Amino acid sequence: MSNLRVSNHPLVKHKLALLRHVDTEHKKFRELIRELAMLLGYEAMADLRLIETTTQTPMGIAPGHILQEAVGLVPILRAGLGMVDGIHEMVPGAQVWHLGIYRDEKTLRPVSYYNKLPIEPTVQVCLVLDPMLATGGSAVAAIDVLKAWGVSRIKFVGLIAAPEGIELVAENHPDVPLYLAAVDDHLNENGFIVPGLGDAGDRQFGTA
Ligand code: PRP
Repeated sequence: MSNLRVSNHPLVKHKLALLRHVDTEHKKFRELIRELAMLLGYEAMADLRLIETTTQTPMGIAPGHILQEAVGLVPILRAGLGMVDGIHEMVPGAQVWHLGIYRDEKTLRPVSYYNKLPIEPTVQVCLVLDPMLATGGSAVAAIDVLKAWGVSRIKFVGLIAAPEGIELVAENHPDVPLYLAAVDDHLNENGFIVPGLGDAGDRQFGTA
């Protein structure tokens, strides 16, 4: 699928295996989420637009660049929260806009419960952050919100996806690329990614 970008980076593969492991404890899990978000965010931002400029060095004038676009980091609560800090360190000027969306356990449909976006868009590019893309309902709902806000350059940065979720996003938002660490086999009857890693929110925040 043309919107799919699955990282081939050895560090991503190594860290993902550690993240998945059933014995990885909360603290280590949070560290790995942060590091993986940084690596995938780096790949997702490879086409940010630049303005050419010059910069004064101790030896003279060098050509240089500055970012042209304002970047928004949009974590989907809760699990996306752990992906913010690593990317924010790389792009300290980024704005962080939280979206609260949870998945109804019975219907598996997304339910929105928090959105404080101002009326006018304040960024040109948004990275939607959520480690898990299962049915894809939460991601599609988040992207719907951002497009309605007025942002057209949107990227989804996740860790593990099910084929069902990739398909749903591609159907609804074919213009949104998906930056992922892995595509897993399937969803089980409860809508969990198999083999996946369990519940990314619970494993980060110790709420299992
Ligand atoms: C999980 C996950 C995604 C969503 C993925 O969140 O973090 O947001 O489910 O599922 P989907 O692709 O089928 O929509 P959850 O609803 O468990 O909320 P939480 O992060 O608050 O635990």
